[in-house]
Amino acid sequence: QTIAAIVPAAGVGSRMQHNAPKQYIQLAGKTILEHTLAKLSQLSQLRTIVVALSDSDPYFDELPTLDKRIVRASGGKERADSVLNSLLFLAPNPPAWVLVHDAARPLVNISDIERLIDECIRADEGGILASKVKDTIKRGHTHALQTVPRDDLWQALTPQFFKYDELKNALQGALASGATITDEASAIEWAGKPVKLVAGRSDNIKITTPEDLDLAGFLLHKQQN
Ligand code: CTP
Ligand code: MG
Repeated sequence: QTIAAIVPAAGVGSRMQHNAPKQYIQLAGKTILEHTLAKLSQLSQLRTIVVALSDSDPYFDELPTLDKRIVRASGGKERADSVLNSLLFLAPNPPAWVLVHDAARPLVNISDIERLIDECIRADEGGILASKVKDTIKRGHTHALQTVPRDDLWQALTPQFFKYDELKNALQGALASGATITDEASAIEWAGKPVKLVAGRSDNIKITTPEDLDLAGFLLHKQQN
């Protein structure tokens, strides 16, 4: 089964409030994007690694030489547009499956990715890494109105792993309908197709705000030693 990876890395990182996009922040010796790509490079089953970048990105070409499988595609306005552009980039020679992984999640565990791929291919269903919600969750605006039962609540992580055709059709349909699409799974759900939940490590955080940097730096440093 052929597999291509897609790494959406075309965001501006507005919530990070840093001068450059957050994927180019240096942590534990290299940029966040390099850490993420180094993780994916450990997966020999990937045929190609498509990185979706802003057309005005001046940083990527300055990075040290990366894996030969890495190719660059144009990002889009929203994350879903960046993923769809990357799928269309692959269209001339499409893989059977695609593994979509945020540039902003450099902490992902390789064994978790391998398990996601194995379980989905074995079940012949797409799926995502996710972790069970651990906190007590409240609904409300200024005051707590209700405590939400969390026994069936999961936090969606990446990678998200789907069949190429299924994901392309779902994203195109969901985007055209104006549905809110924050990850690949939400497009697949919109299309009424199954999304397998594969438990992954909860320290696979998406680096989003400045307070995420110390923790991510600490964990990356620990992973390298
Ligand atoms: N992304 C992308 N194309 C976009 C928007 C986001 O490829 N148009 C990527 C980001 O680069 C990131 C991933 O999608 O790797 C997850 O998005 P998020 O964490 O929201 O990153 P940003 O959109 O850059 O951050 P913010 O929302 O704070 O601006
Ligand atoms: Mg964003």
